[in-house]
Amino acid sequence: MARNVAVIIGSLRKESFSRKLANALIPLSKPALDLKLIEIADLQLYSEDTEKNPPREWIAFRDAVRPADAVLFVTPEYNRSVPGCLKNAIDVGSRPYGSSVWSGKPACVISNSPGNIGGFGANHHLRQSLVFLDMPVLQQPEAYIAGANKLVNDKGEIEEQAKRDFLTKIMQTFAGWIEKTASK
Ligand SMILES: Cc1cc2nc3c(=O)[nH]c(=O)nc-3n(C[C@H](O)[C@H](O)[C@H](O)COP(=O)(O)O)c2cc1C
Repeated sequence: MARNVAVIIGSLRKESFSRKLANALIPLSKPALDLKLIEIADLQLYSEDTEKNPPREWIAFRDAVRPADAVLFVTPEYNRSVPGCLKNAIDVGSRPYGSSVWSGKPACVISNSPGNIGGFGANHHLRQSLVFLDMPVLQQPEAYIAGANKLVNDKGEIEEQAKRDFLTKIMQTFAGWIEKTASK
């Protein structure tokens, strides 16, 4: 049976390359993985004060991530780090203390950029948070996807065969990683 993977996109932009990439990964991940995009745009900025009466958007987000077998992060890089919207979503999911929705879930990080470095800084800063959140993160292959603006064609497919093969391999390896590490 396919594993359920919550996909979190680190961009709120309508024409986001990260979102296009995440959507293109859905068919490449079948039949082992069932990818479901979880939206983060409506999440109020995290404050511990607000936790006393949490917004329904926080509750809905936590409820959407909790049942997933694993989490895939597809993110751009902002100023060599994790975009604020993604960090906020991670913070919202991590609380209340002791009830983190991330804990123990296998994860995969795919960063991307129109530039050549492929979001390396964001990828590794994100990994730092995932260590604390006790998420076993796929180590290899690493995914720093450059040329994100030319990656997905008008049909929503990864245009270049070599990149399609690489991303398919990542998703297959992630599927194996989930089987190894997910709590049954
Ligand atoms: C505030 C801001 C900071 C950025 N910093 C970086 C950066 O550090 N490295 C990089 O490769 N691109 C950077 N970019 C360019 C983004 O990679 C580009 O806007 C990309 O399209 C954003 O991802 P998206 O298409 O998924 O929204 C930055 C963009 C913005 C708006």
